[in-house]
Amino acid sequence: MCMLEYSFTWHGKDRACLAAQAPAIGTLRPCPDQSVDWDATQNLFIEGDNLEVLKLLQKPYHKRVKMIYIDPPYNTGNEFVYPDDIAHADWLNMMYPRLKLARNLLRDDGVIFISIDDHEFANLRKLCDEVYGEESFCGVFIWEKKKKPSFLNVNMGSVTEYIVCFAKNRAKSPPFAAGSVKDGKKYPFNNAGNGIQTLTFPAGVVRFNCGDQVVVAQDMSEGNIRTELLDDAEIVNGRNAGAFRLRGEWRYSQRKLDEFVEQGAEIVISKVPFRPNYVNRRGEVKKTSNLLSYRTNGVPTNEDATQEIRDLFGADVMSYPKPSGLMKYLVRAVTTDDDIVMDFFAGSGSTAHGVLLQNGEDGCNRRYVLVQLPQPLNRDEAQSRPAFEFCQAHGLRPTIAEIGKERIRRVAKKIQSEQGQEAAGLDLGFRVFMLDSGNVGPLSQ
Ligand SMILES: C[S@@+](CC[C@H](N)C(=O)[O-])C[C@H]1O[C@@H](n2cnc3c(N)ncnc32)[C@H](O)[C@@H]1O
Repeated sequence: MCMLEYSFTWHGKDRACLAAQAPAIGTLRPCPDQSVDWDATQNLFIEGDNLEVLKLLQKPYHKRVKMIYIDPPYNTGNEFVYPDDIAHADWLNMMYPRLKLARNLLRDDGVIFISIDDHEFANLRKLCDEVYGEESFCGVFIWEKKKKPSFLNVNMGSVTEYIVCFAKNRAKSPPFAAGSVKDGKKYPFNNAGNGIQTLTFPAGVVRFNCGDQVVVAQDMSEGNIRTELLDDAEIVNGRNAGAFRLRGEWRYSQRKLDEFVEQGAEIVISKVPFRPNYVNRRGEVKKTSNLLSYRTNGVPTNEDATQEIRDLFGADVMSYPKPSGLMKYLVRAVTTDDDIVMDFFAGSGSTAHGVLLQNGEDGCNRRYVLVQLPQPLNRDEAQSRPAFEFCQAHGLRPTIAEIGKERIRRVAKKIQSEQGQEAAGLDLGFRVFMLDSGNVGPLSQ
């Protein structure tokens, strides 16, 4: 067995480990008055320190989340007022328990994406190797975050940052799709010349494209294609309500068919006479490259994100937000159906924005869970003054969490006005919960 030859440690690691294990002391208070569509929505916005909130979510969200995206403070020197080496340790102490708790929430096929720049890239990689396991490392996206470099770095101007990806279990993780997933190549079951055998299709496994009906047992052979339906097949909601048997010359054995069923593979029959096809969906996913760029795959930049916020709010209420297009790209890459997407450093809510845009595009019903500290906005700081003034003008408490909630409300209205009736099926609401705890503070452990 291969053993790690070194261990990754830093000042305070043991305490950080204990911080993850300490029981939750807070409670989540429902805030229907701040929510949208409280009764029907499945989306969540939780205001509070994410360490405590992650603890409270351990039971209700255990192994339920398909994708976690986080954009934590990068430790650029502004967040921690310590000498550099201690600042690194502090950052690790902040991240370690959160990453540990987050892992428990991921489904077996779940993945976590973490945005980071050069300051903590190496540490983050080592930290995730420890928490998720080196074998769970999926890769690193390079995001071209701006068109023109700033030359603050002594040696070179930087236009990129990273998104580090780890899986809960790499063997079960999805391929990261680029663009929409099309129905894949079809492989017919019928194979003239093979010996005659009988296949049993269990209830619900076949998708029918020929309308709901009862197809009575009959000989469906034509020319050299031999197929006999041995049982009546009742089609309800496009699926076979009960098991049915087909006798014929087949490409696949019963064992292979059972394997398809176990893997959740798509088996399709489009007409009477029945000619079943196996559709290879996984094989058709075009995998993304690890370069996310406005040049190659249309992923927007930081400048676009700033403009997006300006368009929504009429002011620069968030510094360095992520563009919704980047979030949408990641959401589309690994989620579908009613998957849960979580972001526990939510900021202005760009992850929720990406989820809503992608649902609007493909009609899926993904839900989001956002967590954001009610971090106070300071009117005396140039960066947060526009947000402070916005909150004051709109009767909101001056916190980043208020900006996040307001963004989702505004995005929902925009989608409604742009898509009209088509937006009717979208879940544009969200439930707000507030963490009640004596121990809340920025970056508290
Ligand atoms: C880099 S920003 C995220 C920006 C976000 N991706 C966006 O597009 O707006 C990090 C956010 O994490 C929040 N944060 C920091 N520590 C936190 C904590 N302990 N719990 C919850 N949120 C926290 C900060 O308030 C900040 O808004």
